[in-house]
Amino acid sequence: MNRAIRILSEEHRSISAVLHALRHLAHIAGDGSIRPEFSVFRAMIRYIDEFPERLHHPKEDAFLFARLAARAPECVPLLETLRAEHVEGQKRIRDLERALDQFEESWPHWSGPFIVAVDDYAEFHRRHMLREEREVIPAARRALTAEDWRAIGDAFAGNADPIADLREADLAQLYTRIVGMAPSPIGLGVRWEKRRS
Ligand SMILES: [Fe+2]
Ligand SMILES: [Fe+2]
Repeated sequence: MNRAIRILSEEHRSISAVLHALRHLAHIAGDGSIRPEFSVFRAMIRYIDEFPERLHHPKEDAFLFARLAARAPECVPLLETLRAEHVEGQKRIRDLERALDQFEESWPHWSGPFIVAVDDYAEFHRRHMLREEREVIPAARRALTAEDWRAIGDAFAGNADPIADLREADLAQLYTRIVGMAPSPIGLGVRWEKRRS
């Protein structure tokens, strides 16, 4: 597998793992007798905001999508749809943050709208990644040259931007922290217990 596709697939796996954990914990928090650790939700949403929304998607736009659009004009409508989803994702993440604020302020009420917001976002993002893996990558394999893949691989590895390298290191730490904070069986943290209110 070429380096660019390997990195993209690994990034999708990290994003999927956090989305899966967020969804699972949001449903646990739907039980009003369990007060969730809101800091865990906040760390997960921050990760999604900082990583896919601000780092992963811009790299796709600027390198993979740009080169594929130039080599395979028939892919332009698909790439425009996916670019529009990158923009929409930023708005959806703000909606998710607002739903979390509202849930924390209103706990034990308002878990329903928060769960709906989490499910919507996770499903939106899952479909988006699936289209990239099932439609963009196969088209890119057919159309791109070795030089394209080298340039995209460098960009995805963060080599084109030393600041991106630093930020990726921060995000790896944040990811590790999320795993440490999230309650078992999702992470290594203490299980959220039922409390008498
Ligand atoms: Fe994307
Ligand atoms: Fe992606």
